[in-house]
Amino acid sequence: MSEREVIIKVRNLEKIYNGVVHAVKGISFDVYRGEIFGLLGPNGAGKSTTIKMLTTVLKPTSGIAEVCGYDVAKHPVEVRRCISVVPQEYTSDEDLTGFENMMLMASLYGIPKAEAEKRAWELLEMVNLKDAANRKVETYSGGMRRRLEIAMSLINRPKVLFLDEPTLGLDVQTRAAIWEYIRKLKEEYDITILLTTHYMEEADSLCNRIAIIDHGKIVKIGSPDELKALLGGDIIEISIAEKEDISEILSKIPAVREVKKLDTSTYRMKVESGEKVAPQIIETILQRGFHVIKLSMAKPTLDEVYLELTGRSLRDEEGGEDMWRLRMTLRRARR
Ligand SMILES: Nc1ncnc2c1ncn2[C@@H]1O[C@H](COP(=O)(O)OP(=O)(O)O)[C@@H](O)[C@H]1O
Ligand SMILES: [Mg+2]
Repeated sequence: MSEREVIIKVRNLEKIYNGVVHAVKGISFDVYRGEIFGLLGPNGAGKSTTIKMLTTVLKPTSGIAEVCGYDVAKHPVEVRRCISVVPQEYTSDEDLTGFENMMLMASLYGIPKAEAEKRAWELLEMVNLKDAANRKVETYSGGMRRRLEIAMSLINRPKVLFLDEPTLGLDVQTRAAIWEYIRKLKEEYDITILLTTHYMEEADSLCNRIAIIDHGKIVKIGSPDELKALLGGDIIEISIAEKEDISEILSKIPAVREVKKLDTSTYRMKVESGEKVAPQIIETILQRGFHVIKLSMAKPTLDEVYLELTGRSLRDEEGGEDMWRLRMTLRRARR
């Protein structure tokens, strides 16, 4: 079926910088046509290095990568013809308007002017920048700029789009807005997207499948739901008014997997499906003559999955301010 058509094929891909820095340590995965596939991992995990190899910017040290059926090392020109990239750092020219940036990009691809103008306006409309199209990019907010760059990357109608940290340093609302545009563009233009991120909410909300990457290795691949299911279910915490130990009673409820007594009257349980099991738990407790005074339920998040798989929390790595500063530095360095 066309859905299972492999668009990106990666086998034992490895990158060692200068014979010393082992940035990517033999990763393998497939990306299917029409997917949004995410590489999720902390700073330094090897995400940008992977993107650079897949987009022919960097030569792999060993291993194979094919994009649109072409080997990135042997047929870089063919690969470049079917892809587009939005790199981690800003790429639009601040001294030009949004529209001029679009046209500049089109001219790099040799798209005839009339066609370029048509595509530019269509894409600017799609990312809601039509009204700002004739303003210089230096007046844009970070989110507007990112939207422009995503629109610019689509001017050549790529089959595959690579987005390296598309919402890096942006605030939560702006990030969510950009996710909407990415979804819309994907549908509208029938493209396959590989993105990298260290924001787990981004991976969770946008990606059909995620590869968790840590220290240059893929730790696990799966859909957000599959990854969360690895944790073995939802967490229910319950407190009762009485001091008697009811661990025994709780663990006999069929859907309850694990019971841990947290203090004299509070218990934490792993259950398959929290919303279904919670009423059963309450009923069982009441039948035994005890009284529930508190109940809470939590669905596992990707952060907990990440913690379980790597022993570290991704949340600690988010440090928004630092990343923003890093981005500003990159921008200054290009001047
Ligand atoms: N040009 C380079 N030369 C040497 N080491 C590099 C270079 N680029 C990245 N690295 C190192 O490779 C590792 C992976 O970096 P990178 O791919 O940028 O990770 P990520 O994008 O996940 O933050 C890091 O340890 C980084 O310091
Ligand atoms: Mg990076």
